[in-house]
Amino acid sequence: MPIPEKTIEEIQQKSDIIEVISQYILLKKIGRNYKAPCPFHHEKTPSFIVSPDKQIYHCFGCGAGGNVFSFVMKYENLQFPEAVAALAHKAGVAIPRIAGQGGDPANSSLNQFYKINEAASQFFQTCLANNAASRDYLALRGVGDAVIKKFRLGYAPDSWEGLLNFFKTKGVSSALLEKAGLAVSNEKGGHYDRFRNRIIFPIMDLKDRILGFGARVLDSSLPKYINSPETPIYSKGKNLYGLNLSKEDIRKTGHALVVEGYLDFLIPYQVGVKNIIATLGTALTTDQVKILKRFANTVVIVYDPDEAGESASLRGLDLFISEDVNVYIAELPSGFDPDGYIRKFGAEDFTRLVKSSKNLFDYKFDKLCRRFDANSTHGKAGIVGEMLPTIARIDNAVSRSELMKKLAEKLSVDEESVRTELKKVKLGRGERPYIIGPVEIKKDYKSAEMIILALLLGGENYISSISRHLSLSEFKNSSIRDAVGIIFNMLRENKEINPAKLINYLGGNSEAAMLISEAVNILEALADKDRAMSDCINRIRKDNIKDQLGRLQEAIRAAHGQKDEDLVKKLVGEYSDLVKVKPLSGEAPSSLPNMVPRHGQGTT
Ligand code: UTP
Ligand code: MN
Repeated sequence: MPIPEKTIEEIQQKSDIIEVISQYILLKKIGRNYKAPCPFHHEKTPSFIVSPDKQIYHCFGCGAGGNVFSFVMKYENLQFPEAVAALAHKAGVAIPRIAGQGGDPANSSLNQFYKINEAASQFFQTCLANNAASRDYLALRGVGDAVIKKFRLGYAPDSWEGLLNFFKTKGVSSALLEKAGLAVSNEKGGHYDRFRNRIIFPIMDLKDRILGFGARVLDSSLPKYINSPETPIYSKGKNLYGLNLSKEDIRKTGHALVVEGYLDFLIPYQVGVKNIIATLGTALTTDQVKILKRFANTVVIVYDPDEAGESASLRGLDLFISEDVNVYIAELPSGFDPDGYIRKFGAEDFTRLVKSSKNLFDYKFDKLCRRFDANSTHGKAGIVGEMLPTIARIDNAVSRSELMKKLAEKLSVDEESVRTELKKVKLGRGERPYIIGPVEIKKDYKSAEMIILALLLGGENYISSISRHLSLSEFKNSSIRDAVGIIFNMLRENKEINPAKLINYLGGNSEAAMLISEAVNILEALADKDRAMSDCINRIRKDNIKDQLGRLQEAIRAAHGQKDEDLVKKLVGEYSDLVKVKPLSGEAPSSLPNMVPRHGQGTT
């Protein structure tokens, strides 16, 4: 599905890289550039740099890099045209359809499931509007019309084939509905509605697409909630309820409240606590923490105290530490969840309670002191044993050290013994399972070819000198050769050459994007560009000459074997000419002597 070059450029121009990347991660301005911990590999010290001038990004840790499209491709796992289309939408640029090239990137096989969920949700919303009992139930729970509308709550009728019949008129098969998780098959091969006589909560992704549904009974029967099963588009633990509608508030406030249930999300949201998400009753996953991290690096967990005190749920919070997120815990009075608390005490008390939350370290310590006897040796060892896995996950040595000191002081034990125990944690089970290693890239950045590519981004003088002294066939690395070829072409067509654009010309693939962003950095690091140019041209030339000499030697040997003395003589002549070739001297590009012959041009 080719998108016209002009359109790509227009979209690029209207999609400022700082604005776009800021929608995914927190960028900090440092000098002219912006910095952040790299979203593509695990790190604590930021080495991810975005340049507003060049409109490219680069990670010095893992080598990831590219332009605004490359970022969206990598982050959202999209193909180049899909990333362009996504940004086109945001930038308000229409992509012209090219005749005969059907193919809406959104029209993938997954799209049918989004469409089915969308239609099902419409159906459930209509049913809610027509069913007094379900509306009464929501009213009883204090859910107002605005929230019902915004979160698209619905009602699944008390019928075995309500939704099935609705889809029958639309020509959607029951087998497909089963795949979408909306129908269940019985022993006789028939189907029935999965959700019956329940309030429906659509679960949406960040693009407001409905991935699946949660459904609650209207009374106290069991199971209280049922949810969509795993489907091609829904996977438990991969998303956070409500984030599509709370992400801006989370970004603005710099922190997110984390609750468990649908109503624990909706009721606070309704009273104006909008920087909130719900995990939907499951233990938090790394995927969820990573999504949340895009919007804020502080979370306040608002849990039921009976459960939050459990060491299992406390351990779950270590996940945030591993991901370098600050964790605070707000403790509700026993027997209350956020929904119940607000309904009884109001929004102000709730906000106050959130403000008085404790950080994970203090919270956990206090909890442990209730579980162990902090005065006995046995109890102290127990507390240290529970605290250390949390501390061990903190990557910053200074913070880690501070916390160990604090822990030792609180328990009045020797700090050194705490440190000794910590080492055991790291050696024993401290494999830090949540950390993703940096992407390994094998590339010789300093190779002459790479430096030449860098210099080609340094202005027309370099491009014309290099194109005079090196031919495309002399580049051995195929990716570099492709890039150089495109630059030579762009020069010929008098096109403006800038790195962000060049990536598009290279088809927008991630290898090309990384290559160009790397080249930009090499260019900036070069102290004496002219000298580097002649050195690298020479190195590439010499390398090619060496290859050629090797091939000639082979040919001479073969000619000898065939007793073709004329050919031997000719080849030996070529060989000695090639040996005599002199390198370039380190002069300015404009006055580079054109003394090194090209292949095939001969010396005489
Ligand atoms: P809770 O049992 O705490 O329920 O489960 P709740 O959200 O307070 O529900 P209400 O207030 O009685 O309506 C918390 C979350 O766990 C999931 C749901 O996402 C629920 O919101 N859950 C709970 C299930 O998936 N299935 C269940 O049977 C129960
Ligand atoms: Mn509840």
